[in-house]
Amino acid sequence: MAVSPARMAAFRILLKIEQGSGFAVERLHDDPVSRFNQADRRLATELVYGVLRQKSCLDWYLASLVERPLERLDREVRMVLRLGAYQVLFLSRVPVRAAVHQSVELVKESGKRSAAGLVNAVLRKADEAGFEQACGQLPLDSSRGLSLRYSHPEWLVSRWMDRWGWKHATVVLQENNCPPKVHFRSNSPRLGQEEMVATLEAEGYSVYPYHLRRGAWVVDEGDLTKSSLYRSGQLAIQGAGSQVIARLLELKPSDVCLDVCSGTGGKASHMVQLGKGQASVIGLDSNFARLRIARERHGKQWPGLRWVVADGTRPLPLSVRFDKILVDAVCSGTGTLRRNPEIRWRLQAEDLTRLAVLQLSLLDNAAERVKPGGILVYATCSLEPEENEQVVERFLSSHPGFRFKTAYDEGLKPCQGLNPHCQDGFLWLPPLVTQSDGVFAAVMQAAE
Ligand SMILES: C[S@@+](CC[C@H](N)C(=O)[O-])C[C@H]1O[C@@H](n2cnc3c(N)ncnc32)[C@H](O)[C@@H]1O
Repeated sequence: MAVSPARMAAFRILLKIEQGSGFAVERLHDDPVSRFNQADRRLATELVYGVLRQKSCLDWYLASLVERPLERLDREVRMVLRLGAYQVLFLSRVPVRAAVHQSVELVKESGKRSAAGLVNAVLRKADEAGFEQACGQLPLDSSRGLSLRYSHPEWLVSRWMDRWGWKHATVVLQENNCPPKVHFRSNSPRLGQEEMVATLEAEGYSVYPYHLRRGAWVVDEGDLTKSSLYRSGQLAIQGAGSQVIARLLELKPSDVCLDVCSGTGGKASHMVQLGKGQASVIGLDSNFARLRIARERHGKQWPGLRWVVADGTRPLPLSVRFDKILVDAVCSGTGTLRRNPEIRWRLQAEDLTRLAVLQLSLLDNAAERVKPGGILVYATCSLEPEENEQVVERFLSSHPGFRFKTAYDEGLKPCQGLNPHCQDGFLWLPPLVTQSDGVFAAVMQAAE
């Protein structure tokens, strides 16, 4: 029997990602997966994300079953083993026989026919050798044991244990292995909540309101990118935590705004929406391909939204000053490990220092363009203080003309009468709270 299209696509995507090329979320929206039927798309998605999430746990277990060190195997063979082992150990609805057979066919089709016997033998052993028992023997009170059991790099586990303690760190690790919820919002001043929900339900979607903030919604079942509202640009898919960031700018229709690091424009489009469709917004990013997607995605809905390709650390090619600037800085993304599990395997501890230098430079440069009395918001999807509070503290100490303001979103639901989302004046919504990406933000105001 031929290899199923879903397995073949997952195999190719995983090899590309391992070589550092792109993110799973982008590759799964490209050909051929975008043309698959729902069942194949679901399986390809499950396999790609599953193997990325469980990579070090799978490698640790496979290493006990293969006589040679795993690094000495051809990368195609290693990837087939990971894919096969993921199906055998984590996917109860795929029969073991089918997983083994498909893996053997896959390794043959990948040009490594001579490894067919090894794949067959190792995956059969994987099923019989007692994975749960092996996991049960890992010392879960150590960063090494936790890093293998929950498949995260040990340096990251170790710093989270130091910061949050064993119990909390363990919950974060477990949650990072659960698929994130898909959140969305209206992207049109004319599309009210009731009409949005009624239209989606009529198209067969099941949705419910997000627990922490009105205006944010969660989809239970269904691919929202196929909905008529998404296709017409009236609905935006955006993590609930990210939906809070543009609100910190307190937008008015008359505001002239800049979104530095706008990427594919999720927050820039929200800025126009919050400015009642009349705020003037420029999205700036150094990545042309992302801005092209941003224009395709938001151009129909917001023709006035402008896009500029530029390096945000260099003098900006813009002559105006802005009422509101958002710096949604490029960051380690440790708050997005559920959605972007590949980050776990790319990020190194040293990157945090390098990123903090870049973030401060983006912030310094943007500050030059804020009008007197204007607002500057700094945001990341990182959980690391080096990229969050420490960048803001360094910025404020070298910019006495800016004052720190408590980040406040009146629509965030308080807990026991307190706003638990604000710590020392910073907005702090970790993934455990958002059920999606974790976000951090700080608000600063220029002197009049
Ligand atoms: C966190 S993402 C932005 C997400 C986006 N704001 C959104 O809401 O969808 C960071 C972005 O920073 C951009 N970037 C990285 N270095 C940059 C630089 N030196 N100047 C401008 N943009 C940069 C990346 O291309 C990426 O799109």
